[in-house]
Amino acid sequence: MELGQKRYRSVAVALHWAIAILILSQIAGGLYMHNLPNSAAVKFDLYQLHKSFGLSIFGLTIIRLGWRLAHRPPALPGAMPGWQKLIARLTHWAFYALMVLTPLAGLAMVSASPLNVPTLWFGMVEIPHLPFFNGVADRAAVEDVFQEVHEYLAFSILFLFVLHVAAALKHGFVNRDGVLRSMAPRGAAVIGMLAIAVVLGLSALFYIQSDAPEGEISRNAGHNQNAAPVASPAKAEPDAAETVVSVTEPVGEPLAVLETDASSAETTSTAAPSPVWAVDYAASTLRFIGEESGEKFEGQFSDFAAQIGFDPNNLSASSISVEVRAASADSGNPFRDDTMKDREWFDVKKHESAQFRSSTIRKTGANSYEADGKLTIKDFSQDITLAFTLDIDGDSAHAAGGADLIRTDYGLGMGASWLESEKVALAVRVEFEINAVRAD
Ligand code: HEM
Repeated sequence: MELGQKRYRSVAVALHWAIAILILSQIAGGLYMHNLPNSAAVKFDLYQLHKSFGLSIFGLTIIRLGWRLAHRPPALPGAMPGWQKLIARLTHWAFYALMVLTPLAGLAMVSASPLNVPTLWFGMVEIPHLPFFNGVADRAAVEDVFQEVHEYLAFSILFLFVLHVAAALKHGFVNRDGVLRSMAPRGAAVIGMLAIAVVLGLSALFYIQSDAPEGEISRNAGHNQNAAPVASPAKAEPDAAETVVSVTEPVGEPLAVLETDASSAETTSTAAPSPVWAVDYAASTLRFIGEESGEKFEGQFSDFAAQIGFDPNNLSASSISVEVRAASADSGNPFRDDTMKDREWFDVKKHESAQFRSSTIRKTGANSYEADGKLTIKDFSQDITLAFTLDIDGDSAHAAGGADLIRTDYGLGMGASWLESEKVALAVRVEFEINAVRAD
């Protein structure tokens, strides 16, 4: 800069105020989201926005640092004592260090996390995670360390901020030496700040809007040519034409009563209806088994409703329909369970439940059977076969079995990082154990 320049240049002023506002919002937002319960539906999205704004702060800081190194700032007032000048310089460089290190510690935290939640800048650009943690045995412990570091660094920014504002106000209102005015936003600086606000505001809006169902279907369909988008399954009150089976109330809010659609009714119903079985939900389970980062995990859906009309001597009149509330998935890991609710996975805000409806049931052994049918998760419907054993003892029945699924056939975990099968295996096993009694 030229000798005697009294003001910071517009680029420095725009970046100074934009970064200051962003950092304060980022700290407030970080504390708010951290303290939300895991069950809060917005928590996942707030984390993604926090990561996106934090990386934007990092990018803007690098530009600002480059600008600062290439352009000398206005000289501090000659009347200022030497020790104050030294503290001012130290504070400014400490600010730069913290503005670089805080987002890097955040990135290290999410990179170390064994959950491998991908970092997409406002849902648009995937930011690679730091590679140093792949071979680490206890990644959760390393994640915890970086979480503490991230928090301390953020609080250090806050501490410096208080010192910085106090000094700036003293310059402006006690010394009246022009230091405060040298950073006042005017003209081109204001336009620069507005430009930053518009770019980040629109990007955040894009992230929030990308929740739109059409976008989700086309994104997922693009990844999976086999999965056929279908209309959302209807949840209607039963009428006389439907095969309605009463079920005991499952855990939590009751699921809507299933209807049997015309096509499955054609293939499964004959004049003589098969006996109806009422499921004992307290003694029945629906489990899923997957693999994440090479380790097996198991969970279960606590809320499902099954309608079973079954006669071993009249299989053509038998049918099985199951409706599963996706949000009831519980793998014992709150973060994973929260992630499963997100739009990349079960998208529970838009798709409350998954359905299985049998079309044909056949006997394969003395007490073993296979049920062909359609499994619908979100907007994806695939043919599957459930293999199970069935023991009927008077009015009680016990069935156990399952099926192997490929999660991407149902648009589950379609983000670029989730698609890497070594992180979350594509194969998922679903198993059930049902105890039921004759209800008619
Ligand atoms: C200058 C930029 C940033 C500031 C000032 C900032 C500030 C904060 C603050 C104050 C918290 C709450 C601390 C706590 O209570 O644990 C937080 C949490 C968090 N930050 Fe940042 N952050 C920044 C950038 C980033 C970046 C770039 C990432 C990741 C890419 C990130 C990831 C996270 C995560 C995952 C948490 C939640 C920790 C938890 O709840 O366990 N942050 N941040």
